[in-house]
Amino acid sequence: MNLKQKIESRKAKVGVIGLGYVGLPLAVEFAKAGFDVTGFDVDASKVAELNAGRSYILDVKSEDVAEGVKVGRLRATTDMSKLADMDAVDICVPTPLRKTKDPDMSFVVSAAEQIAKYIHPGMLIVLESTTYPGTTAEVLQPMFEAKGLTVGQDFFLAFSPERVDPANEKYTTRNTPKVVGGTTPACSEAAVALYSSAVDTVVPVTSTQVAEMVKLLENTFRAVNIGLVNEIALMANRMNIDVWEVIDAAKTKPFGFMPFYPGPGLGGHCIPIDPFYLSWKARQTGFECRFIELAGHVNSSMPSYVVDRISAALNTKKKAINGARIHLFGIAYKRDVSDMRESPALDILELLHRRGAELSYTDPYVPALKEGDLCLQSVAEDKVDGIDCAVICTDHRAFNYAAMPKRFPLVVDTRNALKGNDAPNIFRL
Ligand SMILES: NC(=O)c1ccc[n+]([C@@H]2O[C@H](COP(=O)([O-])OP(=O)(O)OC[C@H]3O[C@@H](n4cnc5c(N)ncnc54)[C@H](O)[C@@H]3O)[C@@H](O)[C@H]2O)c1
Repeated sequence: MNLKQKIESRKAKVGVIGLGYVGLPLAVEFAKAGFDVTGFDVDASKVAELNAGRSYILDVKSEDVAEGVKVGRLRATTDMSKLADMDAVDICVPTPLRKTKDPDMSFVVSAAEQIAKYIHPGMLIVLESTTYPGTTAEVLQPMFEAKGLTVGQDFFLAFSPERVDPANEKYTTRNTPKVVGGTTPACSEAAVALYSSAVDTVVPVTSTQVAEMVKLLENTFRAVNIGLVNEIALMANRMNIDVWEVIDAAKTKPFGFMPFYPGPGLGGHCIPIDPFYLSWKARQTGFECRFIELAGHVNSSMPSYVVDRISAALNTKKKAINGARIHLFGIAYKRDVSDMRESPALDILELLHRRGAELSYTDPYVPALKEGDLCLQSVAEDKVDGIDCAVICTDHRAFNYAAMPKRFPLVVDTRNALKGNDAPNIFRL
């Protein structure tokens, strides 16, 4: 039986390397589609959770993990030698930036080294981690071909960007269209066959480079538009115009406008990071990505702007940040998630800490945090008392917004969560 027949008959064994926000939902989706799925992770605690039938990602239901484990279609392991049994392998490991804002490919390379040890004829390998155009062809392909196999004949290689949007109730792994680009037409065909069996819509493109760039265009589009609207927010504040009202009215235009909203800065593992993968690669060809750099500059200045707004709010009470009791609502980078990677709330905490504020926070999704020498535990919302200023950093739906302006002397609202409330103690961006 060849790979395509194995996929079509659901006899193909699918491996997913990296069981995080991207890998876990994907593994569950393949198991639901009828495949025998093995998840691989270096983190033994995730492996143990999955094997116990428990989900550790908010968007993935424990029932779905438990069902897959119970019927014997889903399991996890730290033992990479099991890769030898796989017919198809998806790589979903992190792609962070180094301090210098250069790509850190170490996780992708280490996963590929493991695959190279166990690669065998007929195997399909798909990279899903967001990365610069050329990674699949320049980094992965030579590592596998060094084993004496030819791509498109002996093994199949493709790139398919993940588009998971945590906490999105409408779009999930299943119903979000999936872009797929293979190294050769045979690679594309194999990868399209695999995803078509687990995802509603598959969008083939002609190369791995195109597929890699699609993801970076999508995320750069968001980073640049958020940068633009953040700059408009700073401008509107100087002009005494409510930027939120401007956006609400502008978005009534039924064509040619798409609303983006200002905020305390970018967060998560994608939007603050991915555009720099593109600008790094473009620099190798002597091209400067000015939009990306400018948006990065504006977006990364937002936490200090929020601190300026807190300072302006405290000033109305003749108070300094030094010694003020400041309480942050929301530490996660966005609404209703627990992910605090790159969260601007952490930058705001650090800036306030350096200026001598007494800090506390509430986040139902983040029970405790350690940032530098700051160790804090989330305070239940109804126990927050005696503070000088509340700062809404993340607009979790769980918060009781209506009560805030009455309970706290000052409220700095970075998300327009108090929309429609014009109490004089509210300070918007
Ligand atoms: N989180 C998102 O919303 C999102 C959306 C789209 C794309 N992505 C991209 O997907 C990729 C994965 O992101 P994530 O958020 O799932 O990361 P994550 O940190 O949640 O998960 C990655 C997992 O990989 C494991 N891992 C690291 N090195 C490994 C190795 N060598 N072998 C086996 N396991 C290894 C880690 O232990 C971790 O469990 C990144 O490239 C990211 O940019 C993320």
